[in-house]
Amino acid sequence: MPTLLIVYHSLTGGTLQMAQAAAAGAARETGTRTLLLRCEDAQPRDLLNAGGYIFATPENLASMSGKMKDFFDRTYYPALDRLNGRPYAALICAGSDGRSAAKQIERIAMGWRLRSIAEPTIVCTHAQTPEEILRAKHLPQEDLLACEEIGATLAAGLALGIF
Ligand SMILES: Cc1cc2nc3c(=O)[nH]c(=O)nc-3n(C[C@H](O)[C@H](O)[C@H](O)COP(=O)(O)O)c2cc1C
Repeated sequence: MPTLLIVYHSLTGGTLQMAQAAAAGAARETGTRTLLLRCEDAQPRDLLNAGGYIFATPENLASMSGKMKDFFDRTYYPALDRLNGRPYAALICAGSDGRSAAKQIERIAMGWRLRSIAEPTIVCTHAQTPEEILRAKHLPQEDLLACEEIGATLAAGLALGIF
């Protein structure tokens, strides 16, 4: 049974909710196993053992978060040339932008020769002040549904052998 690996980092809970929604969508599909891992816990073997990926990160300082970057730094070369052609999607939680983090993940995925199955899903919280940015996030249901759909689509495609 193919595994969908979801790797995430979250400081104030927004990205976590997106990753959990994607996992819930994937769990609706039979024929795929879903593994939801904090980026700190994810290892090269988790990438090698999975058939498809969702990478979920906040945008921090016009970048993916440092911990998410560390995950890619640790796993990039051990996994290089061993994931070619596998499908992936990116989920980004941002205050007001998100495009820089999305672009970085796209470039790493290109290096791994992964296949994008959707445009990056970017959810903006519109938090502006330091207090709002550091407060725990509660994302709207419609944004979480979009993440759920990504998880369901990837899982269904893996189960059917479409990707
Ligand atoms: C240190 C820091 C830097 C941030 N930089 C950006 C940024 O460059 N662009 C942006 O759109 N949001 C930025 N944000 C806002 C976060 O992306 C937003 O709060 C998001 O909810 C974080 O996801 P999380 O709840 O999963 O931690 C920043 C937040 C922090 C804490």
